[in-house]
Amino acid sequence: MFAELISGKELAQRKRIEMKEETKLLKQDGITPGLAVILVGEDPASQSYVKGKQRACEEVGIHSELDKLPVDTTEEELLHKVTALNEAEHIHGILVQLPLPDHISEKAVIDAILPEKDVDGFHPINIGRMMVGQESFLPCTPFGIVEMIKSKRIPIEGKHVVIIGRSNIVGKPVGQLLLNEHATVTYCHSRTKNMKEITKQADILIVAVGREEMVGEEFIKPGAVVIDVGVNRNSEGKLVGDVKFDEAKKVASYLTPVPGGVGPMTITMLLHNTVESAKRREK
Ligand code: GUN
Repeated sequence: MFAELISGKELAQRKRIEMKEETKLLKQDGITPGLAVILVGEDPASQSYVKGKQRACEEVGIHSELDKLPVDTTEEELLHKVTALNEAEHIHGILVQLPLPDHISEKAVIDAILPEKDVDGFHPINIGRMMVGQESFLPCTPFGIVEMIKSKRIPIEGKHVVIIGRSNIVGKPVGQLLLNEHATVTYCHSRTKNMKEITKQADILIVAVGREEMVGEEFIKPGAVVIDVGVNRNSEGKLVGDVKFDEAKKVASYLTPVPGGVGPMTITMLLHNTVESAKRREK
């Protein structure tokens, strides 16, 4: 067997073309979707992510503005900034790039964002709404993963989904979203015993640990769908996932590549949430 690749890059491109049309229509009604991004400090990876988000906004006609704050910004100053953006009419989405410097509480900052503008889907209100199946902003990476699975018409209902990783941003919420789609969900993490025995039972295996090529073919049931969320730079400077691509390709039925897999979908779902927020305001 040779896995079919699920290209996040292609799916993202298709979705962005649709969104460009949507923003055009909104503009005709006098609304330009607006996203505010706050970046604290100079972390190179964060700078690169933020640049990617801004470029994508431009591509689909979303107004974006970036607040670059020095690394010694106080929590109070950052909270003031968030409050001002909560009140800004032209801003429909607020994103504070994580991680924040250690002296600032991420929880306090996320809590301060109006749930109606929390296009990252990180606010406890949005997480809670997602858990009980109410309308909310869904966290972008999990949302993108579900869209990728659905794009290939891969059945989810009744399937065994195993997730390696339990972060608040990816692991936990992607399990909840797939549970909402009637999957049977198992979480594995650093304290899990006999992990391979569990992952070998997965119809859909999602790997979100952030450890370079940790998952080889011995973790994968033949014919499984493998979603690789990892983005790691190896010793040769090359971007690699959490999954050994060449091995997974031989046993999986579907596989997401790195780069060009989950990454482009994360940004696309952020754009989607921002446009959605503007549409809700219009209503
Ligand atoms: N840092 C890494 N991923 C993300 C994300 O999706 N949103 C924010 N705000 N910060 C991140």
